[in-house]
Amino acid sequence: MFFHGVAEGPPDPVFGLGGAFQADVRPEKVSLFIGIYRDEELKATPMAALAQAKSQIQKDDLLADYLPMDGYPPFLQAVGALAFGEELWRGAGERIYAAQAVGGTGALRVGAEFLAQEVSRDFTVSHLTWPNHRQIFERAGCRVETHPYYDGQKGRLDFAAWVGALRKLPPKTVVILHTCCHNPTGCDPTLQHWEEISSLMLEKNLFPFFDFAYQGFGEGIEKDRLPIQIFLKAGHEMLVAYSCSKNFGLYSQRVGALFAVTSNPVEKSRVGSQVKRIIRALYSNPPAHGARMVAHVLTHSALAQEWRSELGRMQGRLSSMREALVQKLPEEYQFLRNLKGMFGCLNFSVEQVRRLKEQFGIYLLENGRLSLVGLNHKNMDRVVHALLTVGGS
Ligand code: LMR
Repeated sequence: MFFHGVAEGPPDPVFGLGGAFQADVRPEKVSLFIGIYRDEELKATPMAALAQAKSQIQKDDLLADYLPMDGYPPFLQAVGALAFGEELWRGAGERIYAAQAVGGTGALRVGAEFLAQEVSRDFTVSHLTWPNHRQIFERAGCRVETHPYYDGQKGRLDFAAWVGALRKLPPKTVVILHTCCHNPTGCDPTLQHWEEISSLMLEKNLFPFFDFAYQGFGEGIEKDRLPIQIFLKAGHEMLVAYSCSKNFGLYSQRVGALFAVTSNPVEKSRVGSQVKRIIRALYSNPPAHGARMVAHVLTHSALAQEWRSELGRMQGRLSSMREALVQKLPEEYQFLRNLKGMFGCLNFSVEQVRRLKEQFGIYLLENGRLSLVGLNHKNMDRVVHALLTVGGS
């Protein structure tokens, strides 16, 4: 007998709620717990440009072949230009290594394995962060501390506390940074803050590792990448874990990329050789289909334009839901107005979140994260009523 001592693991804080939501028979239930974009009908449909790309590449989708260990080169070139901006990508491309990854999560894991091997095992994440961060890094053999970032009472960034904590970190500590649409709080630093964080991290010799999962959902494709550009121009070596799950609506295709900004082409090649060894040992090489779809969209200007417009409309729907919600709520919820992306964090206790679920069939994450994707004009008043009943006011 080998398995008799295996203990039941805890449910995942995000995916674990899926089963309970599915099993909930109340027709008025509302899913506000996961970051999967839904339209006003609360349907998750493929983006039009991606659907077209899928049928166009069908004929030459070479299923009986491997991709290189670090993925499909046209995809990497196209997503590199998207993440860094055309000009910087062209200017600095010779020292940025890129590897296709199995979603943003895969990029974070491969990046953490690489940093644990070559740079440092000491990681720090904001005290509220995407619940998966900690276990991704710990399973790569890293030690994960937390630093203050967000003041839940005031519903805003606690910049002084963040800076104070970064100042005390030992050199080479890996600092996880959310490029835009901070998950779970939706609270992003200003560009001035990013400039200061960049200078401080250079001064203290801290290593930036950006999680870039929501490009286009904050203030638009160009503005959302500004933090990356600030750090690149300041001269940082850094990693960027990029996800195409949300902005290309390719959740189940697992499309992402890991970028390593190095100091020169020789280092780029050496870093790449180590990243490839890690990939080879983990899953050998990435799946092709989703990356081909993304590359096809980004390299065909009419499709790229269509994709940009649709992403803009998705972002617009979320902003209008945020605004509609805030307008119906009293003063203490107004902080939600300034947040970016899919999420916001209510200052609710675990008990209040449980009441929302049990009494009203409204599902949030236990940390109070509310995902705007599940709101529409039909359920808005019900959600507002539930929040006010459970949260007071
Ligand atoms: C989320 O935070 O809801 C998404 O990123 C889905 C996930 O993988 O947790």
